[in-house]
Amino acid sequence: MQYIFIEKDIDRYAELEKLKQEYLLKPEFSKDMIECRREDANEYLKDLCQKNWEVNRALVFLDPYGMQVEWTTIESIAKTQAIDLWILFPLGTVNRLLKNDGEIRPVLQTRLDMFFGEHGWYDAFYQSAKQFSLFNEENRWQKAGNIFVAIEQYFIDRLQSVFNGVATNPLILRNSKNVPLYLLCFAAGNQKGAPTAVKIAKEILEGMQNPSQLTFLI
Ligand SMILES: C[S@@+](CC[C@H](N)C(=O)[O-])C[C@H]1O[C@@H](n2cnc3c(N)ncnc32)[C@H](O)[C@@H]1O
Repeated sequence: MQYIFIEKDIDRYAELEKLKQEYLLKPEFSKDMIECRREDANEYLKDLCQKNWEVNRALVFLDPYGMQVEWTTIESIAKTQAIDLWILFPLGTVNRLLKNDGEIRPVLQTRLDMFFGEHGWYDAFYQSAKQFSLFNEENRWQKAGNIFVAIEQYFIDRLQSVFNGVATNPLILRNSKNVPLYLLCFAAGNQKGAPTAVKIAKEILEGMQNPSQLTFLI
């Protein structure tokens, strides 16, 4: 088994290297079991996914602050049919980009297209609404009522379009004011093991929604 940590920030990478040295003092870890890499995780993972995955298996955890994970990275992971994925989806960041009137600057629309791998997000998050004035009526775009549910459903659909199995009960992580910030999602790439992996992930996510159940699970 090998653990690979990818971090592009120089100071955070240095912290990872320090942690690595601490862990290497433990008898259960040998030098080649822990690797820290200072590089772009999208590039590294896409490259890794091109390798032969006939015999190897892996679990990837993507923990970005915002929208740093590219859809092409998620797609590459799924294509291996050998890697399972835990990902923190930046619900709060995406919501902030979605203006109420749907007037999103082209540069941000392109950013969202790259992030979701298509433009279908617009129809998923906006509805056309008629607006009447004294002289005429016009169509306006309006952000979906329960936008967090809409984003969650859309991202789960996107994962399902490329992975063999997806846990349909992601965990919503909120800030101290109860505002949703992240969604913890699981997707199984490993074809054979997908049903079992998804079942276990669903139980873990359910347990995290209900901590007393988690204690029971452990
Ligand atoms: C939420 S933090 C990760 C925290 C870490 N998992 C932990 O538990 O301490 C996100 C990290 O991703 C790094 N990052 C952002 N984009 C990246 C990229 N494209 N490649 C590699 N690292 C990236 C940031 O520098 C930041 O340190």
